[in-house]
Amino acid sequence: MKINVLYSNLHLDELYFTGKTCVVIDVLRASTVIVTALANGAKEVIPVNTVDFAVKVSGDAFRSQTILGGERNTKKVEGFALGNSPLEYVQEVIGGKAIILYTTNGSRSIVKAKFAENLFIACFNNLDAIVKHLLMLNKDTEIICAGTNGGFNLEDAVCAGNIIANLDADNKEIEFSDSAIASRLLYKNYSKSITRMLKNTDHGKLLIENGFASDIKECAKLNSTDIIPYYISGVIKKLEITADKPNISGNNSKSINAEEK
Ligand code: MLT
Repeated sequence: MKINVLYSNLHLDELYFTGKTCVVIDVLRASTVIVTALANGAKEVIPVNTVDFAVKVSGDAFRSQTILGGERNTKKVEGFALGNSPLEYVQEVIGGKAIILYTTNGSRSIVKAKFAENLFIACFNNLDAIVKHLLMLNKDTEIICAGTNGGFNLEDAVCAGNIIANLDADNKEIEFSDSAIASRLLYKNYSKSITRMLKNTDHGKLLIENGFASDIKECAKLNSTDIIPYYISGVIKKLEITADKPNISGNNSKSINAEEK
């Protein structure tokens, strides 16, 4: 089992991910929103890579059962029902709904990895569940940081390093790439206070400036849920783990091409 960390995947061709096992991390805030929405009863989350395509998918789908969510420059997209604060995705609003989600980096990173054999969504909220599942699968894994505009960001790298540190603690047979080893060092340096680390990142400071300080605390919660979001056929659902294999909860939606051509 070899673990690699990508600090962004927007520069890679989507075919690179074919057949691979991947984990996408966007701590502030897309991964935390997806984990929260599925934990609160959303039927599924449909990640898209443009606002126009989000509106198109919403128009094609059964209106009462879909809800548009996401952000541009951290703020709710005009005409969307929800922004990208995990605190908005409460059961009363999203329960049973398909959420069509556009975000600046997170949803685009997920769509970029859509050819993966296994594609999971991770953040601090579901970290231990992800680690346990990766150990059970025992497959070479690409941990993909959404990053910021195709570049490195600290919060996703520290979260990746937290996963690496936990994997390493459990299994000495795992091979880690240089980028994985570097992310673990970053995690060791910031592990005393995830909240403080998030507050001092570029994106964390922008979120606080734009009135989303309460999101920082939500995104810093460690292991607040054990749900694992799993991407299949264009939608992200909650993974139901049976004794021997992942079993997608509910009926799979029709395959939705999440990219606007
Ligand atoms: C992202 O996609 O980078 C974030 O989710 C943006 C945000 O929520 O502020």
